[in-house]
Amino acid sequence: MKLAKRVEALTPSSTLAITAKAKELKAAGHDVIGLGAGEPDFNTPQYIIDAAVKSMEEGHTKYTPAAGLPALKEAVIGKLKQDQGLDYKASEIFVGTGAKHVLFTLFQALLDEGDEVIIPTPYWVSYPEQVKLASGEPIYVTGHEESGFKLTPDQLEKAVTNKTKAVIINSPSNPTGAMYSPDELKALGDVALKHDLLIVSDEIYEKLIYDGASHTSIAELSPELKAQTFVINGVSKSHSMTGWRIGYAAGDQTLIKAMTNLASHSTSNPTTSAQYGAIAAYTKEDGSVETMRQAFEERLNASYEKLIQIPGVSCVKPQGAFYLFPNVRETVEMCGFTDVDSWVEALLEEEKVALVPGSGFGSPDNVRLSYATSLDQFLAALERIERFVLTKIKG
Ligand SMILES: Cc1ncc(COP(=O)(O)O)c(C=O)c1O
Repeated sequence: MKLAKRVEALTPSSTLAITAKAKELKAAGHDVIGLGAGEPDFNTPQYIIDAAVKSMEEGHTKYTPAAGLPALKEAVIGKLKQDQGLDYKASEIFVGTGAKHVLFTLFQALLDEGDEVIIPTPYWVSYPEQVKLASGEPIYVTGHEESGFKLTPDQLEKAVTNKTKAVIINSPSNPTGAMYSPDELKALGDVALKHDLLIVSDEIYEKLIYDGASHTSIAELSPELKAQTFVINGVSKSHSMTGWRIGYAAGDQTLIKAMTNLASHSTSNPTTSAQYGAIAAYTKEDGSVETMRQAFEERLNASYEKLIQIPGVSCVKPQGAFYLFPNVRETVEMCGFTDVDSWVEALLEEEKVALVPGSGFGSPDNVRLSYATSLDQFLAALERIERFVLTKIKG
């Protein structure tokens, strides 16, 4: 079968190969600890499940408007007002089947052949593929560990060409957990305004932040920046609702309308009962978002020092999300490997710990460890990694 060029050009997910191998080992009876998870390990809070069940029992089992129920748009507007102090109209909100599909729809509606989108590295794996699927051109700008993996205004300025249409800012970041301060966002925003770049601000990890950090959306910083920004968010990570597939965008209504037209011919609408669940998530409260956040913070604090004590491992301490993204280049060499990918493979083979190589995130000297797993499991995994490294160094 001859496939379309657009799918042939797709880079397979970097987590896939390692996950498949981990599954194989598990099926063969091995005690594998997987640290590849991109989702919270808690169940969705009960009040959200109850609201979705009730909606179905009451007969809300039919199509809804393509960009979401008016009541959900109102709930999203209320959330953005309460958390960010931002005012949006319903015509400026698009609800889709997860933030991933919202971003996909956005790039489809925004990009023409050859339009460039600036993507700071390390990046979430889907950004480049989604830009390419929309005939756009990803332009990578390397985030250095010395600057906390963050894009600088100077780097942004240098990456802009007359084809640049947008820049993606992901704060807190997957995979680094880095967060931009209001001053850093303002400085990037000035460059975006100067060159009329759409700022795609992916804030999906907004609620998972630690050490007293507070989240700022770039859209909050001035009316000009609000007009220039598309805020992307959703309930997947904040409310442990990854399987429900509800995310949203807030921004310019012309683009929202185009995305809505696209959705009307692709998804029709996000799943109706999931929308009712999301309404509950944003209009009610039982403390579980904060309880989950605290659990992640405890895991981060209990594991970070242990991680950086492993010989040859350094790690910028994350401020948000639920990943550690250490640089393992030195330890890989000390262990006698030439590249991180084969070190990761040997670690899985010998110590049965599955990590995600950084190459898939555009950062080949790093690995990603997700602490969306119990603290005991996470600490046991770190012990195995340390044992693996010490054995290799000695051997
Ligand atoms: C940075 C980032 N953005 C967006 C998403 C998409 O989230 P969802 O489609 O579950 O709403 C993810 C999920 O892993 C992510 O890590």
